[in-house]
Amino acid sequence: MRVLAISDKIVPQLYSDQVIAVTGRVELLLSCGDLPFYYLDFLATTLNVPFYFVFGNHPLDARTRPRIPHGANLHRRVVFHDGLLIAGLEGSRRYRPRAPYQYTEGEMRLHCLSLTPRLLWNRLVYGRYLDVLITHAPPRHIHDAEDLAHQGFQCFRWFMRVFRPRYLLHGHKHVYRRDEQTVTQFGDTTVINVYPYTVIDLEPAPRRVLRRQVSEKTRVFWQAVVARWETFVGVSAIPKEEETTS
Ligand SMILES: [Fe+2]
Repeated sequence: MRVLAISDKIVPQLYSDQVIAVTGRVELLLSCGDLPFYYLDFLATTLNVPFYFVFGNHPLDARTRPRIPHGANLHRRVVFHDGLLIAGLEGSRRYRPRAPYQYTEGEMRLHCLSLTPRLLWNRLVYGRYLDVLITHAPPRHIHDAEDLAHQGFQCFRWFMRVFRPRYLLHGHKHVYRRDEQTVTQFGDTTVINVYPYTVIDLEPAPRRVLRRQVSEKTRVFWQAVVARWETFVGVSAIPKEEETTS
């Protein structure tokens, strides 16, 4: 599946009628944050693809957060989209007290943990925890910087070691030099700084592990566990029509 991943900066060539000529045909749009919704909406509409996003640390259009046409906010949520398991975590390291969309290491660790029941469910049903994690901030010591605002999260490294997503896509760290590293392999995970845009071929998992048969009893039990946990940690479910289960 060809995916357009974007973050942080409006690219004039994409925000034009030349977008398909620039990106080629894509089937999914992923935003890693700090972009205005008119830009996301333009791309999703012009490319005619679904899109998922997380917020960055700059709360652009945050007032419209509950009403976003077409797309779905993936913060602390998991979707199964055309054979891909995708989750998201918003925001950056906290560098201003009480600012929204900024988190301490401990707070982000709790966000990571809040995904755990659903990831265990994925392992049971799909044979893997996750395919793609989209974040705004990078993992610590991968594509990040030493100023507090641009330091990555240590817990993302823990997340990759434990849940082994095939990709972690992030933004936040602007790239100014051609020789700056934007792709890093960390265990089973390819970490990509998508700034300002990247087209990636994300292959769905082999069909034999797309979905496993589990007993109805197990399914009902785990669905109840996941639902109760998500209610407990304050994660509202993705509306059903936004979950595609091909
Ligand atoms: Fe940012």
